[in-house]
Amino acid sequence: MVMKQTGKAFYGAFIHSLGAQEVEIIANGLIILDASGKIISLSKDVTPDELSEVSSKGIHIEKLKRGELFVPGFIDTHNHAPQWAQRGMGREYEILEWLNTVTFPHESRFEDPAYARRVYALLVEGFLKQGVTTASYYGSLHCEATKILADICLEKGQRALVGKCNMARECPGYYSDKSNATSLQETEELINHIHTIDPEGSLVKPVLTPRFAICCDEELLAGLGNIAKRDPSTMIQTHFVEARQEIARTKELFPQFSNEADLYESFGLFNDHTIMAHCIWPTDYEVDRMLQRNIGVAHCPVSNTTGGEWGAAPIRRYLDLGMKVGLGTDSGGGFSSSILDAMRQAIITSNARQTHSDGKEKTLSVTEVFHLATLGGAKVCCLDDKIGSFAVGKDFDALRISMLPETGGASSMVEDEDGVEVMFEKFVMTGDDRNIASVYVRGRSVK
Ligand code: GUN
Ligand code: FE
Repeated sequence: MVMKQTGKAFYGAFIHSLGAQEVEIIANGLIILDASGKIISLSKDVTPDELSEVSSKGIHIEKLKRGELFVPGFIDTHNHAPQWAQRGMGREYEILEWLNTVTFPHESRFEDPAYARRVYALLVEGFLKQGVTTASYYGSLHCEATKILADICLEKGQRALVGKCNMARECPGYYSDKSNATSLQETEELINHIHTIDPEGSLVKPVLTPRFAICCDEELLAGLGNIAKRDPSTMIQTHFVEARQEIARTKELFPQFSNEADLYESFGLFNDHTIMAHCIWPTDYEVDRMLQRNIGVAHCPVSNTTGGEWGAAPIRRYLDLGMKVGLGTDSGGGFSSSILDAMRQAIITSNARQTHSDGKEKTLSVTEVFHLATLGGAKVCCLDDKIGSFAVGKDFDALRISMLPETGGASSMVEDEDGVEVMFEKFVMTGDDRNIASVYVRGRSVK
């Protein structure tokens, strides 16, 4: 149940992204919410008299201290929920060996609903603690476990896209959909379940989740494409040109396609509601198709640089083209469930690309990686009408950041003379989850 609440307000410093290269800093700001947690007003340079007037109407105001600020909640655009307990494992393997050796045996455990309930409760709490107010989740292939994941997101108040993984070939018998028909039928069952528990999609929405083309033949991809066609607002997510080993195997399995963009597009799975994870090795043709189809990119720089022969995605190029780009933790595919780490690793990988391109691909700035973590991610998830910034009319999904020493957080010390902008940069570059003092989704405290 989504809890009702009376209107409330938040006063202090707010920072949010207005675009890839623009943050707005609001000192002495006041945000007022309606009873559903939606922002109904955002005022700047609010005076003590104005504050008293709001209080006198019976609206409770949460006031920040010096050394604190509000930022929008972080958005994790690519997260494998069943990999929560295997994070960091098996980094010596190439992608296909890693799936077969580490991931598939582990994900198969989610056949047991009791195990799923236990791990998914810890996962959702763990990500909320890191300030992830929205996650786009891949479940395991199990319908029951994935329903449990959706239930837990709703119970704990995390906004989420939740998908049952479709995988009916190129995986071991003990961890494979029984048939394409079962895979599609269970996908429909999960969609119906999510529409039943959250009929308005106020927090949880379904997402079609073919694991990747290697695990899905033509019939299964076409079946998923038909589900997407029925309702053009259907979200879709999969992995795209992640590793050269994966690209080569895809070509062997689909000799009729010379590239992955045409492959997914021909099955109706490559459109403005598609979240493509990784996008490391696109050809020029694929970049053009991504641009034409308004694909959202889930950049996962921690996982991309932790294992096998993975690499650094051309994020500067995507941003220059005006494409939607967000960040993903990838959960199991990396060593960290922190979007702060993903932001910093996005800077590191872009630095490497700058060097290797002789300066042509410029390093990402703090402003840009913050955009990816918030408004950019909202665009990728097609939720930017609801979240990603503090614009009036959006839901209040926010993090109360505290740089005060008593938090024990890792962030650089705040000096008396530090303005909001300096505090913000210190938080992005050195903060951790202890500096995330409170987490709100739709105005409701969830940490
Ligand atoms: N490609 C197919 N499945 C996976 C997965 O679980 N993680 C990553 N990183 N890539 C994949
Ligand atoms: Fe992944």
